[in-house]
Amino acid sequence: MIIAVDGPTASGKGTISKELAHRFGLPHLDTGLLYRAVGRQVFLDGGDPENAGDALAAVTFPDSLLGDPALRSEETGGLASRVSVHPAVRKALFDRQRAFATQAGGAVLDGRDIGTIIAPDANVKLFVTATSNVRAKRRWAEMCGRGLEVDLADILAQIERRDERDKGRGDAPLAVAPDAYVLDTSGLDRDAAIAAAIEVVEAAC
Ligand code: C5P
Repeated sequence: MIIAVDGPTASGKGTISKELAHRFGLPHLDTGLLYRAVGRQVFLDGGDPENAGDALAAVTFPDSLLGDPALRSEETGGLASRVSVHPAVRKALFDRQRAFATQAGGAVLDGRDIGTIIAPDANVKLFVTATSNVRAKRRWAEMCGRGLEVDLADILAQIERRDERDKGRGDAPLAVAPDAYVLDTSGLDRDAAIAAAIEVVEAAC
């Protein structure tokens, strides 16, 4: 069984994917981490994320980079979003994601193009979303909880900029697959969002 979970940043898709993987006993791949690693590697190489050649060279990042805490920062998220517009980068990361999706026994993958490009054949497709204000508040609360001093208006602006770039790119833009179930988590707490996602998967099995 392949479960595809797509959606914008801070929608809750990561939490939901992890819980679905746990609940259904499936391995999970956070595909955003791959793009974050490429963005981080470009930065470490002193390259330009807007430059397709620099971004493609960074696709050869060492696997150890995937465990780097710097990958989680909003700054790296922005770099990831900039390198992910290059079709050559997306193509270079395709096989790894496709192999994960089609492994024996199934898998859960989350990202932006899982239901549309990586696994259009997924058994269940969820598009997890929430209003940008709700997502900004979540991200802000999470960062405050980590002791960071951040401004809510700045976070909202960053989120909206990232959404625009992810939706507006020519190759594999963030889009709802025609056969995806849209789960709006704006009015849901963590447990309610997870319960709703589990219900969708169970109904599809
Ligand atoms: O999900 P996360 O915030 O970690 O993703 C970081 C960035 O990587 C996204 O803003 C998006 O530009 C890119 N991405 C992508 N396709 C995916 C996953 C992430 O383009 N499947």
